[in-house]
Amino acid sequence: MLMTRGAAPLLRVESIVKRFRQGAATIDALQDASLTVDEGEFVAVMGSSGCGKSTLMHVIAGLTRPDSGRVLIGDQDLFSLSDRRLTKFRHERIGLVFQAFNLIPTLTAEANIALPLLAAGRSNAMEERLNDLIERIGLTSRREHLPDSLSGGEQQRVAIARAIVQDPAIVLADEPTGSLDSNNGQAVCQLLYELSQERRRTIIVVTHEPSVAAWADRVVVMKDGRVQAEFDASTRFEPQELAARYQAALHAPTSLPTPAV
Ligand SMILES: Nc1ncnc2c1ncn2[C@@H]1O[C@H](COP(=O)(O)OP(=O)(O)OP(=O)(O)O)[C@@H](O)[C@H]1O
Ligand SMILES: [Mg+2]
Repeated sequence: MLMTRGAAPLLRVESIVKRFRQGAATIDALQDASLTVDEGEFVAVMGSSGCGKSTLMHVIAGLTRPDSGRVLIGDQDLFSLSDRRLTKFRHERIGLVFQAFNLIPTLTAEANIALPLLAAGRSNAMEERLNDLIERIGLTSRREHLPDSLSGGEQQRVAIARAIVQDPAIVLADEPTGSLDSNNGQAVCQLLYELSQERRRTIIVVTHEPSVAAWADRVVVMKDGRVQAEFDASTRFEPQELAARYQAALHAPTSLPTPAV
């Protein structure tokens, strides 16, 4: 099931292997994981607990060096960079969102969002973008609130705004709705969806929830440290239909073609 996609690939993950040593045991978290994602594409990554989804996100984010394989974002080979340059690249080009919102409790919503701008200094253009963003996430009236006084959904929208305030090429979200109720979860999905649709941002969301994956253009199914299968979801399946396709893909023999060299 080879998918022809229109745009140029923004992300290329090539044959990633990542092992963790735990005492005498070795855990093969990623075993030859490969994935290509186009600019502006919204991809959902699904798979059973422990199959390597978070490890893959950490590798794509440049937070974990793989034992072998390459990650290219645009033309940049992440792991050919020194640690210092990789950190700089990550701050400029990659937005990260996690299940725990990781907001700084003593800073207002606005200050949390603006945090990544501190290093660069807050220019007028950045000030404008910040205002835009706060309006876009629907938190104009809450910008001076501390995270504690925001709902979970609001906190996650702040975390997403913080992840995109630098205008990154790619946004990686690891179970961003995992600690939200379904209304707040859907609001977060809507925000990510709009980013991909209107602003051509590349989005990768790890999720266990079919109602979250249903927002994606494509669903990537991982198993045992590999991408086992993928299917097009751009026709916007109902969550139930998506769940059925996910189960079928998970249990089918590997359906990915061998990539042409
Ligand atoms: N830092 C680490 N040290 C040792 N083992 C690790 C480490 N990080 C992950 N692992 C192991 O690697 C495997 C993949 O973990 P990972 O967190 O990527 O799974 P996951 O698909 O995100 O699971 P979940 O859906 O539960 O979040 C697991 O067996 C996990 O125990
Ligand atoms: Mg995980």
